[in-house]
Amino acid sequence: MNNPKRYLVTSALPYANGPLHIGHLAGVYVPSDIYTRYLRMRGRDVVSVCGSDEHGVPITIKARKEGTTPQAIVDRYHKLIRGSFEGLGIHFDIYSRTTSQTHAETASEFFKKLYEEGKFIEQTTEQYYDEEAGTFLADRYIVGTCPKCGAEGAYGDQCEKCGSTLSPDELLNPHSAVSGSVPVKRETKHWYLPLDQYEGFLREWILEGHKEWKSNVYGQCKSWLDGGLQPRAVSRDLDWGIPVPVKGGEGKVLYVWFDAPIGYISFTKELTEKWGEYWQDSETKLVEFIGKDNIVFHCIVFPAMLKAHGGFILPENVPANEFLNLEGEKISTSRNWAVWAHEYLEDFPGKQDVLRYVLCANAPETKDNDFTWKDFQARNNSELVAILGNFVNRALVLTHKYFDGRVPARGELNDYDRATIAELEAIRPSLERNIETYHFREALKDAMNIARIGNKYLADTEPWKLWGSGGEKLLHVEQSGSQARVATILNLALQITANLAIAIEPFMPFTAEKLKKLLHVEQSAPQLSWEGLGQINLLPEGHQIDTPELLFEKIEDDAIQRQLDKLAQSKSQNMEQETTVEQQIEPMKGLITYDDFTKMDIRVSTILSAERVPKTQKLLKLSVDTGIDKREIVSGIAEHFTPEELVGKQVLVLTNLEPRELRGILSRGMILMGQDPDGKLHLLQPDSATVPGASVS
Ligand code: MF3
Ligand code: ZN
Repeated sequence: MNNPKRYLVTSALPYANGPLHIGHLAGVYVPSDIYTRYLRMRGRDVVSVCGSDEHGVPITIKARKEGTTPQAIVDRYHKLIRGSFEGLGIHFDIYSRTTSQTHAETASEFFKKLYEEGKFIEQTTEQYYDEEAGTFLADRYIVGTCPKCGAEGAYGDQCEKCGSTLSPDELLNPHSAVSGSVPVKRETKHWYLPLDQYEGFLREWILEGHKEWKSNVYGQCKSWLDGGLQPRAVSRDLDWGIPVPVKGGEGKVLYVWFDAPIGYISFTKELTEKWGEYWQDSETKLVEFIGKDNIVFHCIVFPAMLKAHGGFILPENVPANEFLNLEGEKISTSRNWAVWAHEYLEDFPGKQDVLRYVLCANAPETKDNDFTWKDFQARNNSELVAILGNFVNRALVLTHKYFDGRVPARGELNDYDRATIAELEAIRPSLERNIETYHFREALKDAMNIARIGNKYLADTEPWKLWGSGGEKLLHVEQSGSQARVATILNLALQITANLAIAIEPFMPFTAEKLKKLLHVEQSAPQLSWEGLGQINLLPEGHQIDTPELLFEKIEDDAIQRQLDKLAQSKSQNMEQETTVEQQIEPMKGLITYDDFTKMDIRVSTILSAERVPKTQKLLKLSVDTGIDKREIVSGIAEHFTPEELVGKQVLVLTNLEPRELRGILSRGMILMGQDPDGKLHLLQPDSATVPGASVS
């Protein structure tokens, strides 16, 4: 869409059940903020909309765990998340929440319209029901043993241990997370959006119409469409959410993924009476920033909803990012493996732009990427300090040293100056193209190249050498030829600095503001609008600039070490938790030689008879056929097996163990058993009938 009349930018609504971390920031919010700031600087009509996603089962689970209400949970995290956005300069025109009144009405109306127009299908299915708690159980509320890996505590939709996607029916020993009781199946009616009916529309719209989408996004859409779409339930049996507003909907709520994206519309309504212009006029360009786990909802489900409703525009682009890892591992809220936005703001006050810079420079635009604290430090010290900060500082300090902090006159330009200006002029089109095509990493490089150009210019022209000795300040007195040359050089250097103030603003708004203060220009100085980028008349001759101050400071090893220590602490806590289950697993015994092993004579043996040893709790007297002979063995397994169930079984026997007398019976050998950490015994048997006497090696 060329030259849209206005822009509507949305950013995935964060779930209000945990704090923001760098993965969210790098994937969604930093890019969306860069994009919006850029559009605003260009004077475009743009609104940026976001808010907290406050419904859904995980929020109710968290509330239950903490013994509080879902409302209390979302209140807490909504505030925390909003504060983190503010602290990091991630600005939305509105940051609302899906528990707002307007949203409830908007989502409700949306559902009603689709219902009344027959856009849903109704279907009754059997779902797990907790009779003790008197409630249907969402997949997340059913826990049991994972059929894939055997882990306890797997959820009805997923095993967090092995990552498998599950359905409640696959769980072994399913029980309710609410009451612990064993759930029963009960019939329940729900409304489904028949996505299959929208396949043709989606194919044409995405696969034909949006070949320009990022390949990760386009590819995911294509594979969903090629896999065939199924009707999707848009309601749930739950008491936290927006009530289903139609007959038969009592006790049911809208599925969170149905209500949440409608939030984009509700919040625009809350923002402006002209919301209809943004949502209903085809001259609006809608861009949705999300992470890769949201692609199907934003590219398939929500567009189908919008299409079913009618009258709304569709996204023009959905520039989803991949994931950011942390120190080589997946970011995980439950394992506290993350850099939390609110903690960063506390630990690195005043360094919001450093994080913004690093997350953009390292954004997972085309593939998953890794955040490491060492890289964070290196980018700060060798890029922000050494390139950007250093150039600005040199230009300002030299201007103060030679010209009392006034912008000196620019004399005649030589070829080198003109080449430098040409390089500067080339930045703007590249920067614009990169931002408008969502290549923010490249765009940031473009902006930083202005500082590189400046550094090179000063290094090559060496004004400090030209000035001559003495270094006395000259402005009104007559200058020597070389001093006039210095004036020209510094004039250009200062113009480059002013260019930087413009170019870095979308990426590093705090630094841009600081830089403008140093240059002593109004925050909204017209010459420092986007249009000024590439120009060399931004600062008039004689303009007084402020005393230099460093834009960035070096980050020392100890600050980085503290962060690494914090992560190490999470790691050891996780290990502790993980091993509480495995703890009882016996540690390995000391090494033995192969000879030690071959000394053992182990045979498959058949149990011929079994009886309790009188007056004992534990002992059974077994008669076994070892193939070598028939013998008696006394074994302490009476609490685990009845004599009846043992007779006829084949087991493994250590036959050359020294005989031992137990309760007057000579026991010759030992039955081998497997023992669980909790003490439960298992017979070790050949997988098929074996001749007694077969040796084990
Ligand atoms: N809360 C969801 C997530 O964090 C995103 C919701 S985006 C919306 O994955 F479009 F549904 F609002
Ligand atoms: Zn599993």
